[in-house]
Amino acid sequence: MTKKIRCLISAGPTREWIDPVRFVSNPSTGKMGYALAEEAVARGFEVDLVSGPVSLSAPPGARVHHVVTAAEMEKKMKELFEKAHLVIMAAAVCDHRPKRQWREKLKKDDFPKDFEWVKNNDIVQGLSAARKNGQKIIGFAAETTNSMAHAVEKLASKGLDWIALNEVSREGSGFASDFNDVTLLSRAGETIALGRDTKKKTARKILERVWP
Ligand code: PMT
Repeated sequence: MTKKIRCLISAGPTREWIDPVRFVSNPSTGKMGYALAEEAVARGFEVDLVSGPVSLSAPPGARVHHVVTAAEMEKKMKELFEKAHLVIMAAAVCDHRPKRQWREKLKKDDFPKDFEWVKNNDIVQGLSAARKNGQKIIGFAAETTNSMAHAVEKLASKGLDWIALNEVSREGSGFASDFNDVTLLSRAGETIALGRDTKKKTARKILERVWP
């Protein structure tokens, strides 16, 4: 019997708590990551989906691991990484968290005027630094300006095989939309515009390219 391809996908936002009732986050809905998980299941892969807080149903056939913060996402991704053949990091991980988290709800008048921030670890960069031969790692780049240059820089600095560049300031694609407009860039120097399409079809096109 041939061994199943194990695919590890992250999706959705992370939340970084200020106090028990307030957090910092971003507009990711998980649609892109969940579409990738569905497509990976349809291709016969064994799929682990590490998901931030979203309101989507679990893709049938995928194992879903729910997390909230970037630190929780990092821990779960590291735990599942060793056995994965293919990793796709579609989650919108918060780069920073407030230095202090208050245990009790802050009163309106006690709310700090300024926050100190600490950087969260770069999850995908950590995974790629620990990778073994044969593991493929794909990231996303959510950009608003100088998109190509930023994506090329992220592809290299995060040690990725491919990066899926999506412009997130365009209406009708990116965050929350059912559509996306992705350009795939490879470590080998390929640039492949996938065109604006549904996230479902975009997921299919991405997997066809990164795991032919
Ligand atoms: O969820 P949807 O509403 O469907 O929207 C989809 C999407 C726009 C969120 C998705 O297509 C997307 O672009 N995801 C990546 C968002 C992002 O965090 O991009 P970035 O350019 O800031 O990060 C680059 C890469 O590093 C990403 O793969 C990200 O997951 C990863 N990263 C970032 C920060 C961090 N601390 N750790 C990481 O692993």
